[in-house]
Amino acid sequence: MREKQGKIDFAILCMPCAGDPTLRTLPETVQSIASLLSATFLTFAPALSKNDFPMPYSKIVALGHHVPETVITNQYLSTLMDTSDEWIIERTGIRERRWMDPAKDTVANMAAKATRMALKRANLTEKDIEFIVFATITPDYFFPGSGVLLQRELGLEGIGALDIRNACSGFIYALSTADQFIKSGMYKTILVVGAEIQSTALDITDRGRNTAVIFGDGAGVAILQASDKPGVMSTHLHSDGRFAEELYVKDPGSSRPHNERQADQILDTTGYKVHMNGNMVFKHAVVRFMEVINEALTANHLKKEDINLLVPHQANLRISQYIQEKLALREDQVFNNIMRYGNTTAASIPIAMSEAWAEGRVKENDVICLAAFGSGFTWASAIIRW
Ligand SMILES: CC(C)(COP(=O)(O)OP(=O)(O)OC[C@H]1O[C@@H](n2cnc3c(N)ncnc32)[C@H](O)[C@@H]1OP(=O)(O)O)[C@@H](O)C(=O)NCCC(=O)NCCS
Repeated sequence: MREKQGKIDFAILCMPCAGDPTLRTLPETVQSIASLLSATFLTFAPALSKNDFPMPYSKIVALGHHVPETVITNQYLSTLMDTSDEWIIERTGIRERRWMDPAKDTVANMAAKATRMALKRANLTEKDIEFIVFATITPDYFFPGSGVLLQRELGLEGIGALDIRNACSGFIYALSTADQFIKSGMYKTILVVGAEIQSTALDITDRGRNTAVIFGDGAGVAILQASDKPGVMSTHLHSDGRFAEELYVKDPGSSRPHNERQADQILDTTGYKVHMNGNMVFKHAVVRFMEVINEALTANHLKKEDINLLVPHQANLRISQYIQEKLALREDQVFNNIMRYGNTTAASIPIAMSEAWAEGRVKENDVICLAAFGSGFTWASAIIRW
C-alpha cells in the first residue's frame, strides 16, 4: 500500500481506528470520526479503491434454518426408555425434538437448505458467498469436515471452508472467526453455519436416558457481510479443558492404541455414545452464562436493560430461565425454542435467531446478545447491533 500512494501513512493510522475492537467500545462519535477520516482519505486518494480497505464492521444480513421432518415426542421416548413426558418437561422444558431421516438428512444438506432460506431472504445467490465457517461436532464423516461437503452441495468450487468443533459454543466461535476475517478485509461475505445430527449417537436405552431426552438435530446459518455500520460489536470466547470428560464422546479417539482403535469390539463399548455429567454441566453452565453475558455488556458499555433480545444456546429451559431471572429480563427479552427442538448443540443459536427474526422479534438497531456454554467446557458470547 505504501508504494501505491505517498500519503498512505495517514490511512495506516486511520483504518485501524475504525476496526480496532477496543475503540469499537467507545461512543459512536469516535466511530463516526474514524469512518469520516477514512472516507476523506479515500476521496483524496483516487489511486486506491474502497476495496483496498477493510470495513470496520461485519453485519448479519440474513438468517436461515432447517430441521428434519420427523418429530420425536416425549411420549415416544417413554416407549423406548424409562422416562416420562412430565419428567422431561419439568427438568428440561423440552416437549419434542427433530431426529434425522437417514434417507433424507445429512448435516451438510440440512445446512444447504438453511443457507438457501437465508440467501432467498437477503436476495443473494450462492455465488455471493466467499468463505464458509461451519460449526459442528457431528460432521457427516470423521474427516473431512462438513464445510467442504456444504461447499460442494452449494456448487461453490474452490472457496475456502473451515470446520469449528466447539460444541454448543461452536456457532459463536464461528461467528467470531468470520467477524475477524471480514474486519481484516480478507472476505466480504461469509456463510456461518451451525448444524448437527446428534440423534444417531444417542443411547436410547435406560442407560442413556439423561442425554437421549435432551438432544435433537437441525441446522441454522447466518450470512455475514462487511459493513460500515455495526454490526457484530464484540465476541468473547473461553474454555476450560479440565472438564473435557464431563460432556464428551470418546470414540473414534485417535489416542487409543492401534489394536483398540481398529478392533471390532470397540463398537460394543459405550465410547461412541454421548457421556454427560448433567449435574456438573448444569452448575458450571449457570455461572459461565452469567459471566460471559456480563463481560459482553461491560465491553460495550451496555446495561442489561439495553438488551432487546437475549438468544441463549438452548441447553435446557431451566438454564435460560435462571439467566432471565438473574438478569431481571422480561419474558419478551429472551428467546427460547428448546420446547420444540431440544438441544441442537451448535445449531441451536442460529435456528433460534432465524425464528426470532421471522417472528419480528429482531428489529433495526436492536441490541442482540448471544451466549453459549457446552462441552469442553467452552463458553462464549456476542453483542450484535442489528
Ligand atoms: C440432565 C438433567 C436434565 C438431569 O436433571 P437433574 O435434575 O440433574 O437430574 P439427576 O441427573 O440428578 O437425576 C435425578 C434422577 O432422575 C433420573 N433420570 C435421569 N434422566 C432421566 C430421564 N430422562 N427420565 C426419568 N428419570 C431420569 C436419574 O436417574 C436420577 O434418578 P435417581 O435419583 O434414582 O438416581 C440436568 O442435569 C441438566 O439439564 N443438566 C444440564 C445438561 C445440559 O444443559 N446439557 C447440555 C449442555 S450444552
